[in-house]
Amino acid sequence: MLQKTSPEIGGMGHSVKRKEDLRFVQGKGTYVDDVHLPGMVYGHMVRSPYAHARILGIRSEEARKLPGVLAVITGQDLEKAGLSWMPTLFHDKQMVLATGKVLFMSQEVAFVVAEDRYTAADAAELVEVDYEDLPVLVDPHRALDADAPVLREDREEKTNHIFHWEVGDQKATERVFQSAPVKAGLDAFFQRCHPAPLETCGCVADYNSATGKLTVWETSQAPHAHRTLFALVAGLPENNIRIIAPDIGGGFGNKVPIYPGYVCAVVASLQLERPVKWIETRSENLQSTGFARDYHMTAEIAAERDGKVKALRVKTLADHGAFNAAAQPSKFPAGLFSICTGSYDFSTAFCEVDGVYTNKAPGGIAYRCSFRVTEAAYLIERAMDVLAQELKMDPAELRLKNFIRSDQFPYQCPLGWNYDSGDYHAAMNLALGKIGYAELRKEQAEKRAKGELMGIGISSFTEIVGAGPAHTFDIVGIKMFDSCEIRIHPTGKAIARMGTKSQGQGHETTFAQIVAQELGIPVADVTVEEGDTDTAPYGLGTYASRSTPTAGAATSMASRKIRDKAKKIAAHLLEVSEEDLEWEPGRFFVKGAPSKAKTIQDIAFAAYTNLPPGLEAGLEAVHYYDPPNLTFPFGTYICVVDIDKGTGEVKVRRFVAVDDCGNIINPMIVEGQIHGGLTEGLAIAFMQEIAYDESGNVQGATFMDYLVPTAVETPTWETDKTCTPSPHHPLGAKGVGESPNVGSPAAFVNAVVDALSHLGVRHIDMPVAPWKIWRILKEKGIAE
Ligand code: CDP
Repeated sequence: MLQKTSPEIGGMGHSVKRKEDLRFVQGKGTYVDDVHLPGMVYGHMVRSPYAHARILGIRSEEARKLPGVLAVITGQDLEKAGLSWMPTLFHDKQMVLATGKVLFMSQEVAFVVAEDRYTAADAAELVEVDYEDLPVLVDPHRALDADAPVLREDREEKTNHIFHWEVGDQKATERVFQSAPVKAGLDAFFQRCHPAPLETCGCVADYNSATGKLTVWETSQAPHAHRTLFALVAGLPENNIRIIAPDIGGGFGNKVPIYPGYVCAVVASLQLERPVKWIETRSENLQSTGFARDYHMTAEIAAERDGKVKALRVKTLADHGAFNAAAQPSKFPAGLFSICTGSYDFSTAFCEVDGVYTNKAPGGIAYRCSFRVTEAAYLIERAMDVLAQELKMDPAELRLKNFIRSDQFPYQCPLGWNYDSGDYHAAMNLALGKIGYAELRKEQAEKRAKGELMGIGISSFTEIVGAGPAHTFDIVGIKMFDSCEIRIHPTGKAIARMGTKSQGQGHETTFAQIVAQELGIPVADVTVEEGDTDTAPYGLGTYASRSTPTAGAATSMASRKIRDKAKKIAAHLLEVSEEDLEWEPGRFFVKGAPSKAKTIQDIAFAAYTNLPPGLEAGLEAVHYYDPPNLTFPFGTYICVVDIDKGTGEVKVRRFVAVDDCGNIINPMIVEGQIHGGLTEGLAIAFMQEIAYDESGNVQGATFMDYLVPTAVETPTWETDKTCTPSPHHPLGAKGVGESPNVGSPAAFVNAVVDALSHLGVRHIDMPVAPWKIWRILKEKGIAE
């Protein structure tokens, strides 16, 4: 049991206001584009207008003649330095600047450097590239056709097939399907979407030839991993590379990969010996940096007539674009997609995924998601609704019947994961009660009788976060631990540094709260610093809701090491033995004599002034935490929609979100995370798609086409929680940041399909735009 701290200390469970917001709301944050160095110059990318074309020649003379232009770097220049290609995390490689041919629209072809940003952009227009266009492959279903163009001439395997991956017991699953009385399923496409953080990607690379030191300010969610990769790929000594990720305006997975722009800025700085800034435009960000999803999925459930599910069969075609640059560190090509049995007790399951190349931007990043868990959660939650429809059963009742029971945890799922803890019935029952489910079903029946369209959608997702245990995750062999180093100053104030990097999640507050919880030092007295590889202990960064399960745990463990040493000092100061001491947040006191006490501040001072013989001075500790398992947050979301028969427009009338992320550090921050993630889920469900035309042109390259929700489109979110602590995390906490993005798309789509189910509608692919619904209403003859 965690001891509750006072509001003045502000440990776990207090809604401490975000420390970082003081600078953000005053416009005093420091983002990469705020970095201005003496002598700094600017880079701009020349990009391909073609999705697939051979490069016959690049002429840069005119660009070079423009006053202020300092360099034009091409793929051929990089080739000489051995840097025209870079390795990806998934046994593939990726062009930095195109040589030979381009493979997607907006691919990086040349990098122009000039004295100012505008000259660089103007000069980029003057770079002439001769292209010979080639047949374009957009549809992944055609990728393996005999007449499909083979995109990757650089590979030995002359095919667009990247991988086949399967997990589960295929034979057992087939047997169940052969004899199952009920089978139901669907084909669902989780469209290509983009995290679209408010701040686009960018960097300032500064090579100092006098010291040999390369400093790169970068929009990086994983600065240490970037440092090591720069060292390995470019051959620079790692001690001479410093990556600084300053304030970041949203990452959502988009800022995990290393992009060609970063590499080109570094090369230009090495060449010119001047700081080089490169900042993406919005369109460049949407067109060329890490997309998410793009999974074409089929799910089938075998069940009994009473609704008891038996087996799950899943087949997926994954569109990875031109290079397999999936930014995911698991040992599985489809990441954690095998969590697709979700919250349900299937006796057996089989899941297979094939990845293919197409002429689209590379990526496959975990957009507010643990490496394909969003696709998995969407698929199983849609499939459960299709089964309910087939059985003419209430979708809530079907779920309650099939949930893994709380007494089954830790639960070994048929596709290999060991769920740490959960109580799915409790979360569902809370959500049903809060929204007034039974009354809503009555209302729906009455409305239906009057010809009105109202739907209720449920999603009871299970998440898998906290990458990750060393047996399942690594980045170029580096284990996926995370770290915390804490130093207590003589006056009892502290600085804590982690290997993670907040991009808006509020780590400066929540991690200070963990120190406050463990050591009783008030949260106001704890400075949290992340993102500078010269000062922070090595860690693998922030994405996939891993910070709390890994660095949060490390912070707890480092604090406990400090507390152990503090106990020795307290015993010395109080002239008792350690066994005679008891701890309460902020002080050690003598058992049975609570007034005989030393505060953590007394002890901190003594650590530098009055130590027991033989004990080293100082009060600090570092901890590297390799989590024994992932954490499995969960929740039930229920959405109520009304549909306009005249326009096909969907109004989200209510949305109840019950989340369970174990013990909560800061309830206000967690609620903020849920609000943000639900808003992104709403956008994915109804508004967003990075689509391509048949020539491979991106259709969603601006915010005019790729819509982001504003306060006008966003409904009021009603949140609640249950609390099922993680048994293996030192604070019983699970991650939460991505849960609303993972769990909500299915709730929205289920609600829309539910509103139309009496018309025979089984599924509508996202984004569920008004025109798609209106077309259905027109077909059914009920459009107004
Ligand atoms: O890795 P990332 O920070 O994106 O995700 P997270 O670990 O889920 O944390 C998101 C924010 O919610 C952080 O500020 C966490 O400390 C906070 N949080 C919390 O207060 N209680 C939890 N049980 C989980 C997260």
